Amino acid sequence: MEIKITKTTSPKAKPADESKLGFGNIFTDHMFMMDYSADAGWHDARIVPFAPIPIHPASTVLHYGTEIFEGLKAYRTADDEIRMFRPIENIRRLNNSAERLCLPQLDEKDALEILDTLVELEKDWIPHSEGTSLYIRPFMYGNDPHLGVHAVKNATYVVICSPVGAYYAEGINPVKIAIESEDVRAVKGGTGYAKCGGNYAASLRAGEKAEKKGFTQVLWLDGVHRKYIEEVGSMNVMFKINGEIVTPELTGSVLPGITRKSCVELLKDRGYKVSERLISIDELHEAAKNGTLEEAWGTGTAAVVSPIGWLSYKGEEFTVNNGVIGDVTQQLYDELTAIQWGKVEDTHGWIHKVC
Ligand code: COI
Repeated sequence: MEIKITKTTSPKAKPADESKLGFGNIFTDHMFMMDYSADAGWHDARIVPFAPIPIHPASTVLHYGTEIFEGLKAYRTADDEIRMFRPIENIRRLNNSAERLCLPQLDEKDALEILDTLVELEKDWIPHSEGTSLYIRPFMYGNDPHLGVHAVKNATYVVICSPVGAYYAEGINPVKIAIESEDVRAVKGGTGYAKCGGNYAASLRAGEKAEKKGFTQVLWLDGVHRKYIEEVGSMNVMFKINGEIVTPELTGSVLPGITRKSCVELLKDRGYKVSERLISIDELHEAAKNGTLEEAWGTGTAAVVSPIGWLSYKGEEFTVNNGVIGDVTQQLYDELTAIQWGKVEDTHGWIHKVC
């Protein structure tokens, strides 16, 4: 595909202290943009200096939430190779999300070329320190300039990049999670499996309430029975119960996480029994009480593998593995990040070399 590149004439200074990057605070010099119309298809693919995007006040996304996004990372290895982790999975998930929200599909090959071109241009922004990476945020929104409620005829696809450190201030230390019993994030038949802004908007009230009480995030129960565990705020969730690894099955209201899928494969490789099944809050509560809940952790691109040290449900708090990171969680974090940062050989074919 043809991508027109306009380079910035005023490049920004790169962050001097990589230990203070945090998550999603700093943006690189350029971004990718491309427009869609029902008549012309995708057109005008361009990389331009990073800047605010002008938007029509009646634009569909501002009123009806026609927005989807992805999150993936580019890593710098010790010998300065630049690589992405399973980008094709993100592209496919973006297209699945687009199908759910009646947004246009991207050609997989073009979408990969866009990521490669932007990441290569921004490669000097990829931090060098352990635990850091370049977070890539592709997103698409409906852009029709009128107020009727209908599938859009115009859309825009954008990719921005941000050098990042740990998502949670806790880093790889265990987080405190509140199990939410009032609000629900998604229901089967809704948009739970799609990565759309609306799912995150629906999660904010419970997240804020939990944060005020000293928790990092909430753990969601299903919206119908209010009984089955679905996912944690911005991550999928896994438990080790009596030696077995259990993660909620993809029922339609759970995000099909790429880190989740990779962790399931790594755990199976290591010989663990991994069950993707329904897990009720009663089962979890019982396991926590009788001591068989051995470990709990979240998985996600931004947070990678994040141990859960405390869970609270309807005012009752229970500690997981004495509030310290468990062996399986630590091994999983080490193994996954070693593949991503090129410290071990990638035997799964997950790494996509950029340059
Ligand atoms: C990711 O893990 O990449 C996500 O999209 C979570 C995000 C909302 C920070």
